[in-house]
Amino acid sequence: MARFTRSMGRFFNYANNLITVFGVILTTISAVLIIIFVIAELFVEADNPYTAILSYMILPALFLVGLLAIPLGIWRHRRVLIAGGATEQELGRYPRLDFNDPHLRRLAVVILGLTGINAIIFGTSTYLAIDYMESPTFCGAVCHTVMKPEYTAYGDSPHSRVHCVECHIGPGAPWFARSKIDGLRQVWKVAAQSYSRPISTPIHDLRPARETCEQCHWPAKHHGDKLRIFARFDTDEANTPSYSAMLLKTGGGSLDLGRYGGIHWWHIYSDNRIRYFAADERRQEITWVELTTPDGEVRTYTRDEAEPPASALLEEKARVMDCVDCHNRPTHLFPLPDYALDELLENRPELAALPYFKREGLRAIRGDYTTHQIGIDSVRQEILDFYSTNYPEIASEKAKLVEAGAEAASEIFGRSVFPDMGVDWETHPNNIGHEDFPGCTRCHDDELATADGEHVIPEDCDTCHTFLVEDSPTLPDLELLVD
Ligand code: HEC
Ligand code: HEC
Ligand code: HEC
Ligand code: HEC
Ligand code: HEC
Repeated sequence: MARFTRSMGRFFNYANNLITVFGVILTTISAVLIIIFVIAELFVEADNPYTAILSYMILPALFLVGLLAIPLGIWRHRRVLIAGGATEQELGRYPRLDFNDPHLRRLAVVILGLTGINAIIFGTSTYLAIDYMESPTFCGAVCHTVMKPEYTAYGDSPHSRVHCVECHIGPGAPWFARSKIDGLRQVWKVAAQSYSRPISTPIHDLRPARETCEQCHWPAKHHGDKLRIFARFDTDEANTPSYSAMLLKTGGGSLDLGRYGGIHWWHIYSDNRIRYFAADERRQEITWVELTTPDGEVRTYTRDEAEPPASALLEEKARVMDCVDCHNRPTHLFPLPDYALDELLENRPELAALPYFKREGLRAIRGDYTTHQIGIDSVRQEILDFYSTNYPEIASEKAKLVEAGAEAASEIFGRSVFPDMGVDWETHPNNIGHEDFPGCTRCHDDELATADGEHVIPEDCDTCHTFLVEDSPTLPDLELLVD
């Protein structure tokens, strides 16, 4: 008994210092708060980045600081006591651990129990912190001005249920670590306000896309053609529609599967390897292309008028083509107002009853506005004003429809224009297609050819697609096409 009291006394003696007491209080308070937050999280479906940062990152950090402060205080105070004259013999002797002593056993159980609880609290909160850092809310909403354009476009894309990290980091520890180190650099840039506006693309150190995209879109999944129907609306009073249907030869497969061909197969599968050199940062002016075929033949395509790049430059800068050389906007697409309005009219045909809706929508969305919110409000107001000035009967009889049209047009603006970040539909060229940006014709322009003229990267219209219907005034009847 006496020995136990003595060792407890010594322990409290050491622990009796400001740092340790501070540590105990900090650990206890943050542990209690973490537990409350985690329990609250189970019952309330909240997606607030600030509460999440507090409960998953700040509190666990305080908890850890408190935990470290306890032994630090003890160690320091012990040295102070020694310096103050307490004999080293008296203080420094390690207690003899005799587990036959019931008090020592009880003390050991208490210490082990507390350590276990601490480990559970710390482990859980670390897990939750990592899980949270992987969530789109963290990536997209925490630095909300910076990521707002990408986060908004993402929410409206086919990948809106795919986490940012699945494309931006992908599986495996090395890329996870790399991304966290890079994250620190980004946090610094945000704090110092020194990030570029818009965030420039292409992202030069993006993980090779096949290691990320193919987690979900694996090679054997690509096959056959893809049917696309384009609905386009005129800017006349009736918003006259016209429809085209085409088969896009997306293809895929591989020699091993025995079924192969088409766009995906040619550029990425079965050891087809395409490398290219672009004269500009944005990879839009392609001056040199090399194709290695599955049987090892290497073809080099160059342009007549342009000097081919020096071989040292090629070593350094030639890029192996992967998914993002075509699909560079699979998720962050800021749609052209023209196409966004077409899509709107296609999905909500009742809006076509509003005279000149397409023309007025275009005019309003393309206007020059100083901020995101002013733009959203102005687009809506301009459409309302147009109908109340020019078509007062419609404005009053179909007030609901006019309101819906104005609202939808302002949403299109809100999805694609972000003056704070200098982003709109023109900032990031889209490499799929060829109508609005160079896209496929960066290479497929009939001018990149092998030196012997044997091979040219073809521009013929049926290389990539076959038109089934062109500019039909009515939606094509696909059953008729089958015959
Ligand atoms: C389906 C895959 C995918 C998902 C999911 C995804 N991204 Fe991206 N993101 C890309 C690709 C590919 C690029 C590269 C574009 C380039 O290099 O030209 C990119 C580029 C970016 C850029 C650079 C600027 C720009 O507009 O291209 C930012 C910022 C960004 N992503 C943030 C996010 C955030 C935040 C999320 C989650 C809310 C997210 N991304 C989810 C594929 C994805
Ligand atoms: C975690 C899974 C996942 C990852 C990773 C992923 N995707 Fe997807 N992708 C999907 C899903 C799910 C869809 C939607 C399929 C649907 O709607 O039928 C989709 C659709 C697409 C589409 C068709 C879009 C459309 O308009 O129909 C393209 C193109 C695409 N993904 C490209 C990519 C590219 C490029 C990457 C890598 C940068 C990538 N995906 C990464 C799951 C993923
Ligand atoms: C040479 C350009 C090119 C490359 C490289 C490319 N794609 Fe595609 N992909 C296309 C085109 C074009 C389409 C059809 C787009 C459309 O719907 O208008 C397409 C369609 C798709 C689709 C939609 C579903 C389908 O097959 O019909 C998915 C998913 C897809 N690609 C994923 C990928 C992935 C993953 C990679 C990388 C492994 C990749 N693509 C590489 C050009 C490319
Ligand atoms: C970096 C250059 C490059 C880009 C960009 C590119 N291609 Fe290609 N493509 C090639 C090369 C090289 C070949 C092989 C040409 C040959 O037959 O010698 C090829 C071949 C093809 C073929 C097969 C042609 C045939 O002879 O059957 C199709 C289809 C095709 N590409 C579609 C596309 C589409 C669609 C896009 C845009 C989404 C695109 N390509 C973008 C380089 C490119
Ligand atoms: C190298 C491949 C390639 C070649 C060559 C090509 N196209 Fe295309 N084209 C595409 C792809 C890919 C799309 C789909 C774009 C998209 O997904 O929006 C497309 C889309 C189109 C569209 C629909 C545009 C829209 O949005 O309404 C038209 C029209 C078109 N092509 C016409 C042509 C004509 C005419 C030629 C011949 C001069 C041609 N294409 C040659 C790849 C090609």
